[in-house]
Amino acid sequence: MPNDTFGRPLRNLRVSVTDRCNLRCAYCMPEQEYVWLPREDMLQFEEIEKLVDVFLDEGVDKVRLTGGEPLLRRDLPVLVGRLAARSRIHDLALTTNGVLLAEHARSLREAGLHRVTVSLDTLRHERFRDLARYDELDRVLDGIGVAAPLFGGLKIDTVVIRGVNDDELVDIIEFGRTHGAEVRFIEYMDVGGATQWSTGRVVSKADMLETLARHYGAISALPEESSAPARRYRLPDGAVFGIIASTTAPFCSDCDRSRLTADGMWYLCLYATEGVDLRRALRADASHDAIASIIRGTWERRRDRGAEDRLASSNRSPLISLDRLRRDPHLEMHTRGG
Ligand code: GTP
Ligand code: 5AD
Ligand code: SF4
Repeated sequence: MPNDTFGRPLRNLRVSVTDRCNLRCAYCMPEQEYVWLPREDMLQFEEIEKLVDVFLDEGVDKVRLTGGEPLLRRDLPVLVGRLAARSRIHDLALTTNGVLLAEHARSLREAGLHRVTVSLDTLRHERFRDLARYDELDRVLDGIGVAAPLFGGLKIDTVVIRGVNDDELVDIIEFGRTHGAEVRFIEYMDVGGATQWSTGRVVSKADMLETLARHYGAISALPEESSAPARRYRLPDGAVFGIIASTTAPFCSDCDRSRLTADGMWYLCLYATEGVDLRRALRADASHDAIASIIRGTWERRRDRGAEDRLASSNRSPLISLDRLRRDPHLEMHTRGG
């Protein structure tokens, strides 16, 4: 099982199953037009399974399905079922925008999915439309309502943007409580695709904690227990929530994750501009062992500390120019699945 140059193991694989999305969130896909990955390049389920099996041999035991919007991928529960049958995957999760969740939650659960995370940035209709282009709030709420009892709770991811939804922190925590959902507030990140990012729009972890403490009273930090990006906190009334402070307090030193795009490119860091083409190896009939050695060698050379490097750079602005994003959609957050 390989460790990288900073001693970090390879444990956590995020598998994007499509680059398409049915929303256009301002922090992720703000442009009018996008260049999509060619259909013939999309990995078939059998190809995803082959690659996942190599990753399992190299130490991965957490797999998260992402997109774009993963529920747009036809027959996703079939893939979930095949992955769930692999007992070495201790944690099989899905990140979704929730729009199609109500109709798929039961079949995903029955297929063996362990956990669901739903993105929810606002509880207000008009704001939802401003933020995501289409007002799908009711369907997302419906999705959460259907999925939460089936999965015994879920997580809600909220990207907090100054002047957009930073007045809804309390409302979202209260909403989460009614569904047994753990809310995680995410600092706005200057990842590829976040072409409207600016420092002034970031609400820091410190600012969020201050806002919440003003409303609820003293907040305590829970002891750190994993490499998960969220730091977790408890309100005086016992409710637990998380903050993912990738922008102001990165967690690169514990990072055990990498991402596979829907067309089989493997990126280690969320901020990486270079990936490894595993589709080409797979379709050239490379053996399991040959692909394993590509993966192992790449991980052993890994030096990424993308978010820390960004924090250290002065004069921050969007990471990648629009022109370059159009030439290589792999640089987009929505292609990498977060
Ligand atoms: P859990 O295992 O449930 O904690 O999942 P997770 O937090 O790893 O997954 P999720 O998809 O919910 O990730 C939440 C958000 O954290 C992502 O959408 C990103 O905004 C951010 N994030 C996830 N992975 C990374 C990472 O490797 N680096 C940075 N900087 N941010 C990340
Ligand atoms: N900043 C922070 N999080 C982001 N996501 C996408 N773009 C950004 C960004 N610029 C994350 C959010 C969203 C998930 C799909 O990806 O958590 O819910
Ligand atoms: Fe990992 Fe890169 Fe995120 Fe740091 S910025 S935690 S190295 S993916």
